[in-house]
Amino acid sequence: MMKLTFEEEILRDLKEQADFVSGQRLAETHGLSRTAVWKRINILKQHGYEIESLPRRGYRLKSVPDLLLPAEIRSGLNTKTFGCRIFHHQEIDSTNALAKQLAARGAAEGAIVVAEQQRGGVGRLRRSWSSPKGGIWASIILRPLMPPADVPKITLVASEAVARTIEGAIETPTLIKWPNDVMVSGKKVAGILTEIASGPDEVEFVVLGIGLNADFPVSVLPAAVRGGATTLREERGEPIERTQLFRQLLENLEQDYLRLSQGGGAALFDNWRARSSTLGHMVTVATLSGKFTGVAKDIDSHGALVIEIESGEAVTVAAGDVTHLR
Ligand code: BTN
Repeated sequence: MMKLTFEEEILRDLKEQADFVSGQRLAETHGLSRTAVWKRINILKQHGYEIESLPRRGYRLKSVPDLLLPAEIRSGLNTKTFGCRIFHHQEIDSTNALAKQLAARGAAEGAIVVAEQQRGGVGRLRRSWSSPKGGIWASIILRPLMPPADVPKITLVASEAVARTIEGAIETPTLIKWPNDVMVSGKKVAGILTEIASGPDEVEFVVLGIGLNADFPVSVLPAAVRGGATTLREERGEPIERTQLFRQLLENLEQDYLRLSQGGGAALFDNWRARSSTLGHMVTVATLSGKFTGVAKDIDSHGALVIEIESGEAVTVAAGDVTHLR
C-alpha cells in the first residue's frame, strides 16, 4: 500500500464514521493542529467533497463527487508504483501531452495524469480522440529497462489488460482488434496511444495513454465515430462506477507490465492472441507503404501483424489500420 497524504487519511477517517468526527480527534490522530485539520478539510471541499462542519461536533462527510479524484483512486489501490502520484484535471488538452512534460522533468514511474475531459485528445495515427465527461482519459509514465524496439510490446500487453478489466466489469466478451483497439459487441470501447522518448539504445520514458469510453451515452460522440463506437454505459444499460474500474485497471496493467519486464512476454502474448478478433480472419491492412489483403496469421515477437497474402507470401506489418473482411 502506498503512503497516504494527510487529506487522504482524514478522508478515510470521515468515511469510516457516518456521524461527526471531532476536529480535536482528527488533530490528535494525525499529529496535526486543529487549524491544519481545518485547512485539509477545506482542500477536500475544494475538490468537491461535501463536508458539513458544526461547532463542537466536528466534521461529517455528506457526499463524494463523481470524479476520478486521486484520493478516491488511491484508497485501497493495490499496486507498487502505478498511482504513486496522480495529477487530476477537470479539463486538459491531452493527458499524454502533460504526462510527456512531467516525464521529461523527471516524474517517477507510475505517475499518472487523469482528466475528466480532454479538449485535444490524441488517437493513433495522429487522429483526434473525442473525450467527453464520463470517460477515463489517463496517461501513465513508465521507465522500462528495455530496448526501444521492445516498447510496442507494452502497448500490446496493455491492450489485453484493458480488455480483461472491461470484461470483468461488464461481464461481456471483450476482444482486441489489432493492434490495440478494445472492442465490445464489434464496436470500439477503448484505445491506447503509447508515446516514447528514447536514445538509440535505451528508453528514457514511455507514456501509456488509455482512453476508455466508460460512463456516457454514445450519442455525445461526434457523428463520424458514433457508428463504430460504444461505451460501457451503453453496453450495461446503467451507469458505471469509474473509480473502482480505474483502480482495477491500474492493478491489472501493473501486474502485466511487471510480468513483461521480468521476461514473461510469451504468456502475455498468448493471452492477447486468445482475445484477438483479428487473427484467423481475412483482413485488409492500410499502411504507409500501401494496402495488404490476406489472412491474419499471427503476431510476431514485437507485436507486428503477420498476414498471408494471396501468393502465399507472409507480410509483416508494424503499424496500420485493419479492416476485417469476414
Ligand atoms: C486510439 O486511437 O485508439 C488511441 C486512443 C488513445 C486516447 C487516450 S485518452 C488518454 C490519452 N491522452 C490522449 O490524448 N490520448 C490518450
